[in-house]
Amino acid sequence: MERNYRKLWWQHWLAIVCFSVVPLLFVNISLYLLFDRIYTEKVTETLRNSAENRRDAIDLFFNERIAQLYTVANTNTFEQLTDETYLTRVFEIMHAKSNTYMDIGIIDSEGRHLSYVGPFYELLKQVNYKNEPWFNAVRANGIFISDIFMGYRKVPHFIIAVMVRDKSSSWILRVTINLKNIDDIVQKAWIGKLSDAFVVNSENALQTKPRFGGDYLETPTFPEFVSDSFKAHSYPDFSSIATTRVERIDYDGVDAFFAAVRVHNTKWVLVIKESPDEILSPLLKGKYWMVFFTGLGLTIIGTGAALFTNTLINRIKETDRENATNSDMLLQANKMIALSKMAAGIAHEVNNPLAAIAEKAGWMKDLLAEEDIAASPNFSEFNESVDKIEQHVARARKIIHNLLGFARRMEPAKEKINIHNLLEETTGFLENEARYVNIRFVKEYGDNVPVITSDLSQIQQVVLNLLNNAIDAIGHDGTITVSTCYHQKTDEIEIDLADTGPGIPESELNKIFDPFFTTKEVGKGTGLGLSISYSIIEKLGGKIRVQSKVGEGTVFTILLPKH
Ligand SMILES: Nc1ncnc2c1ncn2[C@@H]1O[C@H](COP(=O)(O)OP(=O)(O)OP(=O)(O)O)[C@@H](O)[C@H]1O
Ligand SMILES: [Mg+2]
Repeated sequence: MERNYRKLWWQHWLAIVCFSVVPLLFVNISLYLLFDRIYTEKVTETLRNSAENRRDAIDLFFNERIAQLYTVANTNTFEQLTDETYLTRVFEIMHAKSNTYMDIGIIDSEGRHLSYVGPFYELLKQVNYKNEPWFNAVRANGIFISDIFMGYRKVPHFIIAVMVRDKSSSWILRVTINLKNIDDIVQKAWIGKLSDAFVVNSENALQTKPRFGGDYLETPTFPEFVSDSFKAHSYPDFSSIATTRVERIDYDGVDAFFAAVRVHNTKWVLVIKESPDEILSPLLKGKYWMVFFTGLGLTIIGTGAALFTNTLINRIKETDRENATNSDMLLQANKMIALSKMAAGIAHEVNNPLAAIAEKAGWMKDLLAEEDIAASPNFSEFNESVDKIEQHVARARKIIHNLLGFARRMEPAKEKINIHNLLEETTGFLENEARYVNIRFVKEYGDNVPVITSDLSQIQQVVLNLLNNAIDAIGHDGTITVSTCYHQKTDEIEIDLADTGPGIPESELNKIFDPFFTTKEVGKGTGLGLSISYSIIEKLGGKIRVQSKVGEGTVFTILLPKH
């Protein structure tokens, strides 16, 4: 039985939990996924904007330089600019505005370096650029922005050159750009602690100095900071991208967001890298909170379901117990009906022969006294036998009398009874007997027990039966506690008779109300006391119950309606 309740408990608990946890998880997970999608989209968008913004800044820088170079070329004549003192002045004016330019040179259509102002004068003055790739490019396109290269000076630099056409000839104005300029623009994209940004050319060679790992013209690498001996990974090669690209890439085991955009006017690609841990940290926090709240929700649901299930199962248990008691009572009542029918029959049949036997035994006794048989050697044996016959007849009569207790369907009397007086009187009957075997009566009467309407002598019989049983059970040395109380809710009075006897084993508890069930030795108990008591209380509209613990004692409880 107990196992079934446990199973029921688990089934019920699981049902509640499933029905509430599934929607909870569903809602939480969908919310999280939605949040994740929106947030990632937003991050991607921000990254795209930031990359395009930096790209536009670079474009602007180049456009401004080119415009400035054209201005210089068109506001001064070729003759003026090939004069190095004049060119120095022009360069100083250009240089004063910004630190952009490192040197300036004028080259004719044959590639000759006609004039030069800058730190590499000795090295470059005599150089002919005719076979340099950039020289041909500028002649072909009119404008040329180079990648970073070493050139004659053997240091990384890049140049902007514009071709100017006069009436008769064409010449080239060339400047070297301070690398720091582009670096500064790109570095503005280093926002987070782990973000990086740099520019590569079409050969995937670095055109700006990245924040982590790599130098000009090298292949970009990024160090993995997790281990002490850091490992350098190459970045994915973005050199060939055509349009803006923003994506999360798991590259060489390193997970990162990348935005790559092509810089106009050049074959450069600007790359911005962001660490997902950093850029998605609000999302991560959101995830922790969600896990926390889901956990909290689950705990609350789990405990709530457990508490609720406990209450429910306890109620079911109680109902089951009540049902069991009720069916026990029904069984007992049926037994009683069957018994009372049988008892009536037996009593009727056996009473007459018993009367005859008793009469004849009495007659024999009288005769034995009268006759001279007293002198007979067997006189005492005759006498004893007749006595025994009389004893057994008396006993049989008692049984019959008790049996008739069932059979008699007397209407119970309706009289006002003060239950405490009744108990005092009844215990009074047994006081001497009890004192003799050192059994004490303890009374604990309730204050507000009302007068009830019932059958006094029948209740007295029941109490007497129970007290006799208790005395028999204790044997000697013990206590019988008689207590009463009133249940306002059910309008019943309760009488408890508790003894300190040996108690009744569990296996016998449901038999003690059966007629003829006795543990007393043959001839001592009829086993009818409790069953009669039971039927009396039942007839009076009350209930009788027993609780017992082996080694501690037994409590009989009688509940009687007030009316
Ligand atoms: N207070 C008690 N403590 C322990 N056992 C009890 C107690 N009351 C009843 N019993 C058990 O219940 C049995 C049935 O009791 P019941 O009063 O019906 O018959 P009895 O006492 O044996 O016989 P009778 O009542 O005719 O003397 C007893 O034999 C005894 O085993
Ligand atoms: Mg008895």
